[in-house]
Amino acid sequence: MCKSGLFMALALSAAVATPALAQMDVEDQIETRQSAFTFASWNMGKIKAQAVDGDVAFNQQQMLAAANSIAAVANSGLGGLFGPGTALDKNENTRLKPEFFDKPEKAREVAIGFAKAANKLQEVASTGDKAALAAQFSEVGKSCKACHDAFRAE
Ligand code: HEC
Repeated sequence: MCKSGLFMALALSAAVATPALAQMDVEDQIETRQSAFTFASWNMGKIKAQAVDGDVAFNQQQMLAAANSIAAVANSGLGGLFGPGTALDKNENTRLKPEFFDKPEKAREVAIGFAKAANKLQEVASTGDKAALAAQFSEVGKSCKACHDAFRAE
């Protein structure tokens, strides 16, 4: 593992283990993580439109801003929004499966996969290479799906 990869893995596992703030209440954690994913998704949509579908003219600055935003979500310490009691067995307004809490290794794996893919997206966006950005967009999409398949209910 490269040095930055190792650092990231450590940063993420620390983020999962130790909240940066006093714990938010369950409702706020759920709403905040849903907003974070919606925001990431909005930014993924911009990259899809410009780099993948070509519906919108390619603009490197906009692509970099979108990639930065996705990476910011991935690196924000999202683990702090997945506290105990925030799964769907105890709440009606979430799709987080209770399995999330039984499979911490899997949770860490998908979180690290997302962060790695998002950080690479940022790197690629800064080069302005449209084809490479489209390819990395697809990798990020796979990392979203890996977590959804494991932990998000239909
Ligand atoms: C670490 C796991 C994980 C990763 C990575 C992840 N998601 Fe999600 N996503 C979830 C979970 C869990 C929910 C359900 C959250 C809830 O309802 O509390 C969710 C919900 C969503 C939602 C619905 C939000 C809402 O308002 O209910 C969207 C949209 C979404 N994700 C998009 C994405 C995109 C796009 C990516 C990648 C850029 C991504 N997600 C990466 C786990 C993940």
